[in-house]
Amino acid sequence: MTVRKAVIPAAGYGTRFLPATKAVPKELLPIVDRPTIEYIVDECARAGLDDVLLVTSAGKSAIEDHFDRALELEAALEAKGKDDLLSTVRDLADLARVHAVRQGEQLGLGHAVLQARHHVGDESFAVLLGDDIVDPDDDLLERMIAAHDATGRAVVALMQVDEADVDKYGIASVGEPDDDGRLPVTGLVEKPDPADAPSDLAVIGRYVLPSGIFDVLDRTGRGAGGEIQLTDALETLAADEPIVGIQLDGIRHDAGDKFGFLAATIDFALRRDDLGPQLADHLRDLVATRLS
Ligand code: UTP
Repeated sequence: MTVRKAVIPAAGYGTRFLPATKAVPKELLPIVDRPTIEYIVDECARAGLDDVLLVTSAGKSAIEDHFDRALELEAALEAKGKDDLLSTVRDLADLARVHAVRQGEQLGLGHAVLQARHHVGDESFAVLLGDDIVDPDDDLLERMIAAHDATGRAVVALMQVDEADVDKYGIASVGEPDDDGRLPVTGLVEKPDPADAPSDLAVIGRYVLPSGIFDVLDRTGRGAGGEIQLTDALETLAADEPIVGIQLDGIRHDAGDKFGFLAATIDFALRRDDLGPQLADHLRDLVATRLS
């Protein structure tokens, strides 16, 4: 396997979630009882990526702490005989080798990825956005890594969206899929008008990239919103030779958005034996009361 390292950009301000994110990183807001970013590091581990680089920023070091040992807490849990919680807390530090680098200035997602250059070196690597949660039952990342291993090309994750929503995403121009479901992506358009969109396939927060992307990012100037955009660098790559699109079959939640966060919370709580049935009953009652 050529891909061992994952990069998780988590340095953004999270303005859509203010004031909650004034002092607490949005990546640590809990979905049920686990911070958002834990679901993402879990996904890396499931795909065999055991080297994880977090791109953080000032005031966000608590994200690194979450994946570190907490000896005092462990001793307190041990003394109280809380063995289940003790192993939950301890296992977190074994999920992956977690490293961190700072993005000193929030100049955009492309700039955040560029901060990983030294750590990644000349290997291909995966990028998982720190607030984008993919259905744990979907093997999207594994399929993306397999597509990269087979082609050597950059791979993006695609999701079908409603026509009315194409102006919220980067939209891909795609050709016919091959026998393994790999779609040739010949171009990307950022937030197109629905009338001009080349397809209804949106790029979501998973990428598998060759190390050559760093040179391209280095040359990429500021784009939309005055930020260095990863989409612009991918467009440059796609202009040379098609990149590969892999389509997500299951659900994905944008946990950096208020509605997406609520949807993720309800989805993950409903999946749990200890909470699901009670929450389902409560939701039914609540909807009947509030919307009657
Ligand atoms: P978002 O646009 O969703 O994050 O970027 P944001 O800027 O924190 O959120 P809002 O729009 O202000 O609410 C997608 C991912 O890229 C990271 C974010 O942390 C998020 O995980 N990011 C974005 C960086 O790491 N650095 C940046 O300069 C920008």
